[in-house]
Amino acid sequence: MNIYLLFKSIHLIAAISWMAGLLYLPRIFVYHSEAAQNNKSKDLISTFKVMERRLFIYIMNPAMIVSWIFGILLIHSIGTENFGSFWLQLKLIFVVILTMYHFFLFQCLKNFAQNNNSFSPKFYRIINEIPTVLLIATIIVVVFKPL
Ligand code: HEM
Repeated sequence: MNIYLLFKSIHLIAAISWMAGLLYLPRIFVYHSEAAQNNKSKDLISTFKVMERRLFIYIMNPAMIVSWIFGILLIHSIGTENFGSFWLQLKLIFVVILTMYHFFLFQCLKNFAQNNNSFSPKFYRIINEIPTVLLIATIIVVVFKPL
């Protein structure tokens, strides 16, 4: 059993699940903020709140934690001298930004839960591109490993 490949498989499963949530949650925020703007039914608004909360608590949080744990185990497997490599430094910058974005979405989720959202549907459409760009950059950096 190759432990490095096992770590990498778990890392990739978790990172894909985390990315799915990071891409989907702002989409729900788009529909949620549109529904609130158009005074849609209370039932619909509560459904959005439940979807957001469950996605964040049961998928995104565990997936982020497992991505970090197995990412760190991978750094340990390939050797900590890789901290000196440009590709790993770039990768860590990208995943730190993704993590900050994750907690920003959590703040938005709490505001929605209190009917206190202050951003427009257009805002959520625009920020939805952030994880897309970071996903592409992260994959290219870790596969091509420049320097
Ligand atoms: C959460 C913090 C993360 C850390 C600390 C981390 C760290 C690492 C490390 C050290 C490797 C091993 C590279 C190698 O074997 O040479 C790796 C592989 C990989 N990571 Fe991450 N990673 C993180 C998050 C992510 C995320 C969010 C994604 C997806 C967007 C991702 C995608 C990948 C891919 C595709 C590989 C496989 C590359 C290959 O085998 O060539 N990682 N990661």
